[in-house]
Amino acid sequence: MPKVPEEGGCPKDDFHLKPTTGTKRRTWGLVVTGVVGGSLIEVYAVAMPFVTPALRRVCLPFVPANSTQIENILKMLRTRSGSVVDIGSGDGRIVIAAAKEGFQAVGYELNPWLVLYSRYHAWREGVHHNASFYVSDLWKVSFSQYMNVVIFGVPQMMLPLERKLQTELQDNARVITCRFPFPHWIPNHTTGE
Ligand SMILES: C[S@@+](CC[C@H](N)C(=O)[O-])C[C@H]1O[C@@H](n2cnc3c(N)ncnc32)[C@H](O)[C@@H]1O
Repeated sequence: MPKVPEEGGCPKDDFHLKPTTGTKRRTWGLVVTGVVGGSLIEVYAVAMPFVTPALRRVCLPFVPANSTQIENILKMLRTRSGSVVDIGSGDGRIVIAAAKEGFQAVGYELNPWLVLYSRYHAWREGVHHNASFYVSDLWKVSFSQYMNVVIFGVPQMMLPLERKLQTELQDNARVITCRFPFPHWIPNHTTGE
């Protein structure tokens, strides 16, 4: 005879706590959904900072300077003193190269992963005391304190950037642009292609 449940309780022998096949399947479903969902969130979190610069009004994607371009920048900096800033510093290679030359160098970069990598890279190269990196939107930062400004930009940003730097920089500051010139400023020196 089956046991009669005590008041408010369940019959102990007849109620199995062992998961049925349906319960097992539901548990696996939840685990798979959790793993797939978690992985998608991770991919999204890593990929989005690389995609968003391309979706902005001024599309400035991560295209790092090559070694010739870095060498040309260093040539332009060799006669200079004061601090160096790279606007949109990517993985930090220009800032680190300038720091190795003894400059106090700073990078502003929208992508937090690239900033984290740049800090690690600077530490690996032993120049973390001379190299700083900030997660910032270049249009919201004032560059007035810098004597040497490096920008590896895109054509559509050069006019607004020219106006911004014109109002912010000191008269004896130097601006080094890689590849794309400013629309009105006449360069006093050009190197490379
Ligand atoms: C052409 S890459 C140059 C990277 C680095 N300066 C170099 O030459 O190796 C431009 C960089 O600017 C960053 N960027 C794009 N929009 C930005 C913004 N509004 N503020 C700061 N950085 C930005 C991108 O994420 C990218 O890393």
